[in-house]
This record gives sequence, structure tokens and C-alpha cells, in this order.
Amino acid sequence: MVDMTRRPEDLRSHQWYGTDGLRSFSHRARTRQLGYLPEEHLGKPVIAILNTWSDINPCHVHLRDRAQAVKRGVWQAGGFPLEFPVSTLSETFQKPTPMLYRNMLAMETEELLRSYPVDGAVLMGGCDKSTPALLMGAASVDLPTVFVPAGPMLPGHWRNEVLGSGTDMWKYWDDKRAGLIGDCEMHELESGLARSPGHCMTMGTASTLTAAAEALGVTVPGASSIPAVDSGHDRMAAKAGMTIVDLVHRDRKLSAVLTAEAFEDAVTTVLGLGGSTNAVIHLIAMAGRAGVRLTLDDFDRIARTVPVLANVRPGGRTYLMEDFHFAGGLPGFLSRIPDLLHLDRPTVSHDTMREQIAGAQVHNDDVIRPRDNPVAREGGVAVLRGNLCPDGAVIKHISAEPHLLKH
Ligand code: FES
Repeated sequence: MVDMTRRPEDLRSHQWYGTDGLRSFSHRARTRQLGYLPEEHLGKPVIAILNTWSDINPCHVHLRDRAQAVKRGVWQAGGFPLEFPVSTLSETFQKPTPMLYRNMLAMETEELLRSYPVDGAVLMGGCDKSTPALLMGAASVDLPTVFVPAGPMLPGHWRNEVLGSGTDMWKYWDDKRAGLIGDCEMHELESGLARSPGHCMTMGTASTLTAAAEALGVTVPGASSIPAVDSGHDRMAAKAGMTIVDLVHRDRKLSAVLTAEAFEDAVTTVLGLGGSTNAVIHLIAMAGRAGVRLTLDDFDRIARTVPVLANVRPGGRTYLMEDFHFAGGLPGFLSRIPDLLHLDRPTVSHDTMREQIAGAQVHNDDVIRPRDNPVAREGGVAVLRGNLCPDGAVIKHISAEPHLLKH
């Protein structure tokens, strides 16, 4: 077996820690000040854990604990973990919209990774814009990188109803306005709509983009659908910590994973999941940072070849992300469309995507439909052009009533 371990002097952090100069002396002295022994960190890959945890962000509120699992994995694999708090983008609370701050988090990610003694990065996020922001910034620095998705919250419940966060909110607000329910019911709904830490558990922007990250190959296998409060999420985080140390030793940079083929597969995935139209904006921006040309026309072209197989609300009719997870998660979904994917490209965990999804199965054909019984025959979005939108617009036609499709 070939020993892939990199020599200490080949690590990027060696420039901070390992030279004979005054600066290295100072950096070592300051690391003693942090309380670390020389043998705990010198010559080891320094892993930055960029954590978007905040008290104000219910989608990421568990990530403070989860970072400990990432550190556990890094230590066990022989790395030196350091946690960096970064901006949190809370879709619920941040006004006027976190979209104004996506690029700020991308810049923060880029500048932190570039300016500190970092050999590899673990990015922790999931609420809507945080996934593209973190990956955009990391792509510009191009270090070995692993993404840890925040994971979906548990399904909402109210009386005998299963609720989808971010979708049933609108429905019940309309019921209140119509006088169908009152303050008592709304008070109960406040406690049932979002029952645990984690991002929205519909196939909204958050679940779509974390699935896209897994399809790109930047998460450990099966990571994106693990419920945020499941102990499997802790294990996934520890595995991500181990994986990043291995990636640094292999010197597999993010650019080796974020290829044109990977972005095509991410688009295929988003369309086959009936995912959010917001993914169009973010994937094009992420591809741009990775030096890959991705356009609206690529979405239109691929949409014509991909059936929607995920029966997850709101594109699907019935299920939520926990159902999708136990039906096989993204590996199960991808195992239904291998002919539509580029399986020979590397991921953070495997030399090929083929290995990554080997053995994956679907355990519920109503949640992840077979090809001969799709939710929709073509991918969930269509690109439109006309005098109102000469440069193109996107419609999620599977969520629209048929009478709205001709205008
Ligand atoms: Fe964070 Fe929906 S509010 S993902």
C-alpha cells in the first residue's frame, strides 16, 4: 500500500509553523498560549472548521455541538482542528433577505481560509444561502474541503397532521384569514411547525442545495438527508473530520471534485428531486467560482432528460425529508439514475462516484419513485424566454396548476 502521508514541510501550514524565522517562533509561542503541546499539532494537517452556528439561527443551532464531532474525527485521523465562527445566514430572521449576505459569507470564507494557516477545511451549514456561500468562498481558495450539511429538522406535527415547514405556514395563515381556524389553533401550530433544530424538511432551497452538495461529491456519502438531531448526524460529522485529514494527505483539492461533470450531475440531481428553483441561481454562481461555465440553457437541456423521482413536498405530493432519508437518501436516489450521471469523477470520499453509490438501494418506491412511475416525466423546472424575460426565466412547472402553464 502506498503511504499517502504528506511530509510536514509539504503542508501549507508549515509556512506559519515550521520555518526557522521569527514568525514561526511567534506562531508556535501563540499556539502554546492556546494550550497545545508541540506534539499535539506540529507537522499535522491544520483543519479549519467554519461553523455558521448561532443562537439566532434555528436551522444551525445544533452545529456548536456538531463541531465537536468533527473535531473528534480530525484528532483521530491525526489532524489539528481549529474552529472558526463565521456569519450565520438565517432565512427566517435576517432582513430584508439573507440573499444580500450570501456573497459576504462567501468572501468571509475565502479570506479566512486564505489568511490563516489552514491545510484543509470543513464547512458547516445548510440554511438556504449558507451552502452556496461556503462552497463559493472555498472554491476560490481551492484547499481540500468537506461540506457538513446541517441536516433537516424533524417533520412538523399538529393534531393529526404532518406539517412541512415553510409550506404549511402559508396554508394555515390563509385558513386563519378565511376564518377556518382561530388563535387557539395558531398558537398550537407555533409549537408544531418546526419541532427540532435543523433546516427546513421539505425539498425547499436548503434540502435541494445540500443534496446538490452531496451530488457534487463534497460531502461524505449519504450526508445530506440525515435528520439534524439523529445520532447518525454526529457520526457523519466525525466521518467528515476523518475524511478531511485523508484528503489533505492525498492533496485532493476542491477543484479536483468541483468539475464540469460534477456540476452537470448536481443539476441532474436538483431536477430529478423536483428541487427549488433557487438552486439555478446558486449553482450557476458556485460553478462560476469553480471556473465551470454553467448556464440556464444547461438546466433546460438537462431537464428534458431527467424525470422527477422524489415524491417530497412541495414538488412531490406526500413526503418529507426524513421519509426520503429512510427510503435510501441521495445514494438511493442516484442509484435510480446512474445512466444520467458521470460516475468516473472523484468525490471527497472515493476515487469515483461509482464507488460512492455502490450498493445503494431504495427502500420505499413511493418516496423515491422508479423510472416507470415518476412524479413527473421531465425535470421539475423549465426555462422560459419571451418579451418579458429576454435573458430567460425559470418556472417550477410541477408545482403549478396546469391552467397556469399557458399564458
Ligand atoms: Fe433555514 Fe428554511 S429557514 S432552511
